[in-house]
Amino acid sequence: MTGPMARPGGQHTHHTMRKKLLTIEEAESLSLHDIKQCYKGHINPVYEDVFSTFAIGQELVDHAEGVWLHTKSGKKILDATGGQGVLNHGHNHPRILAARIRYQQQRRMEVHKTIFSPYLAALSSNVAAMLPEGLDYPFFCNSGAEAVDGAIKMAYKYHKGSRSKILYSNISYHGKLLGAGSVTGSKELHFEFPKIPGTMPYEYGSLESISQLIRQYRRADGSSDVYALIIEPFSASTFRSCDGHFLKTLRQICDDEDIVLIFDEVFTGWCKTGNVFYFMDHGIVPDILTTSKSLGGGKSSLSAFVSGSKLLKKTFGNHKDFVLHSTTYNGFGEECATGIEALNIIADDDYVTRARRIGEITEARLKQLAASYPGQVKGYSGCGALYSIHLDIKTELLDKVLKLVPVDMLQQDQFVTQVVLASVTDWLFAHHQVYVQFTPRGITFSPPLIIAESEIDYFFDSLAATLDAGFIATTTAFVSNRFLKFFKK
Ligand SMILES: Cc1ncc(COP(=O)(O)O)c(C=O)c1O
Repeated sequence: MTGPMARPGGQHTHHTMRKKLLTIEEAESLSLHDIKQCYKGHINPVYEDVFSTFAIGQELVDHAEGVWLHTKSGKKILDATGGQGVLNHGHNHPRILAARIRYQQQRRMEVHKTIFSPYLAALSSNVAAMLPEGLDYPFFCNSGAEAVDGAIKMAYKYHKGSRSKILYSNISYHGKLLGAGSVTGSKELHFEFPKIPGTMPYEYGSLESISQLIRQYRRADGSSDVYALIIEPFSASTFRSCDGHFLKTLRQICDDEDIVLIFDEVFTGWCKTGNVFYFMDHGIVPDILTTSKSLGGGKSSLSAFVSGSKLLKKTFGNHKDFVLHSTTYNGFGEECATGIEALNIIADDDYVTRARRIGEITEARLKQLAASYPGQVKGYSGCGALYSIHLDIKTELLDKVLKLVPVDMLQQDQFVTQVVLASVTDWLFAHHQVYVQFTPRGITFSPPLIIAESEIDYFFDSLAATLDAGFIATTTAFVSNRFLKFFKK
């Protein structure tokens, strides 16, 4: 398409577009086929391929409210994913929507950093109000990985660059930027990108492994060469967590060695595990906390790393260095307004109590499930509104056979287990209108904190019916309906 574009000075130039630009209305009326064509041509053809494998990939969502997705085909789907930690408030919480509409109607200002912002001020104050003393200064950015990168930089600067090592856990997931990826031990990041220097893995949950590294990196003058240790007190990717003794001892070690202790609660924050943050159950405070996800109320991409005055003063809290770490979207107006409302909802509606109640109901249902399906349910782990249901999938023979098939995907570890888990989630969607995700450990039940007891019951009744159908039925249906397309290639 060709059209005149006004330029400064009144000249016009002709810019040729490769295609007609789509409007929002046109976007909303694109067919599934057209959307898939855009994915293939302009996003990543593999996304189109993989997402189309699942029953949910045959649907378009018209709108979403609370724990429900409403598809264009008229289905009502229970969203038990919690949006990877983003949706503690559920989809489109009315107070979050109202806050944003109000902000827009009043033509509030988004951008300028050198003009004092009431929104940035109030959100910072609110975050501090909900955290223990010592965590007073949030710096806002947009993604979890950005918060982790900021935290690492702060810890490094605290020691004026004089220490060179940062310790991270072997099972950690901190995000995919170069910095956060450098301290991620999860196998998900299997390709060796360049790393920040000095990253040393320790074994999650092992004080001995940490102490051993600290001994190894002691310098001749007796001081430590370790500037920081980063840990997820509750690891949402593996469902492992640290107990009070471990966390207290870790705090003591870091105090003794002047090592900056960073807790990454990007996933587990804002009541997901039954306290405002998981670490708050254990009477210790990190030097830096990273947070994101439900901080944005399900509507804004908001993250932060939060520290205390001692760290701030020695890093970015002086006239020379106060903009040494910054980002364009720090303090963006409507994002902050959304965050303010998100935290007020968490406090007003007592999300801590809600999460604990969800945990109680879920554990009761999980116990029943394990007792009723001993051959299929191995156990479970989690707390609050974050559980993994471990299925007992016996696949040794199939595993060996499938390893002989020369398709890349089939060579991955535990491929058959993954297919069975995928088939269970697909069955839940196709037969019961329940949307869940899975990890290598099991089916994840991670609902929004606004879920009602009857909705939790609906989830577990649907899961029980899926287990009644059996893994052979779910897997056969999944493979024959959807997965065979990989073999046809
Ligand atoms: C504990 C933890 N840290 C960091 C991240 C990275 O966040 P993001 O994907 O927003 O970069 C995640 C993402 O799930 C996470 O769970």
